[in-house]
Amino acid sequence: MDTAAYKVEVAKAFNRAAADYDRLGVRFFTPMGRRLVELAAPGPGRRVLDIGCGRGASLFPAGELVGPKGRVTGIDVAESMIEEVRAEASRLGLRHIEALVMDGEDPNLPARSFDRILGGYSIIFMPDAPAALGRYAGLLADGGRIAFSSPVFTSGTFPFLPPLFTELIPGELLRSLPPQWQPAELSQRFNSWLERPEDLRATMEKAGFTEVEIIDEPVDMVAASGETWVDWSHTQGMRLLWQHLSTEDAAALRTRLITALDELRDGDGPLSIEVPVRYVRGTVRR
Ligand SMILES: C[S@@+](CC[C@H](N)C(=O)[O-])C[C@H]1O[C@@H](n2cnc3c(N)ncnc32)[C@H](O)[C@@H]1O
Repeated sequence: MDTAAYKVEVAKAFNRAAADYDRLGVRFFTPMGRRLVELAAPGPGRRVLDIGCGRGASLFPAGELVGPKGRVTGIDVAESMIEEVRAEASRLGLRHIEALVMDGEDPNLPARSFDRILGGYSIIFMPDAPAALGRYAGLLADGGRIAFSSPVFTSGTFPFLPPLFTELIPGELLRSLPPQWQPAELSQRFNSWLERPEDLRATMEKAGFTEVEIIDEPVDMVAASGETWVDWSHTQGMRLLWQHLSTEDAAALRTRLITALDELRDGDGPLSIEVPVRYVRGTVRR
């Protein structure tokens, strides 16, 4: 895979998604971001780096915990995400939050200058995440902690989507997509290190982390309707899937998903999908 071209594609997809990202009536990144910050537990005055901060699902809750004496730096490859974060921080008068356009795989930031590193569903987009983790260890002060989240990659299901979607999305549509979308048995996905807890632990330890914890916990994704969910899916990583489909295939998939998702609702009630999420924590001790 050409990793530079892949990153440009990711940045473009999230640039176009930024304006509506997680703002279309689906609750997912917001509760996941809050939980991640709870697990990272940055106290008042701490210095936090949020890698692939998006619109700030983790960054703003971290800003609350560290308070004005702390500092939160968000980085993202998608400029529009960074603009949204800056606008929100300025609207809220939060001067201890900064946001920078930067490749999170190799951040150009001073060594040992952070107490916490966060990565909410972002490290999974790094073509060589194990190497990036080693760099993150170098950015943490002694005793510093990383906490990141990822999907729970399960053999036989398509990554990034709740398992239920493996039945709803025809396999032939997904098989033409980039490798990170493929189930492990179909390709050598670059997220394979995250799949088995023993590989994940070994990767974290090799990168320089100890006290590694893997916490699998579902997030209850709630959407007003099937249509709301499908519209929202264009505003996050699944946009990469939509943009690979022909107009015809996209229209057919849209109808199929809306119908199937609405069948899961209790009458006019909201749609609720349990999404398995993996949170990983590790500490640097020198
Ligand atoms: C699924 S979003 C999650 C955003 C946010 N952390 C949240 O929880 O809402 C993934 C984010 O990672 C960013 N991203 C992907 N690859 C990146 C890279 N190499 N460096 C920095 N950011 C990256 C994307 O632009 C996007 O904003």
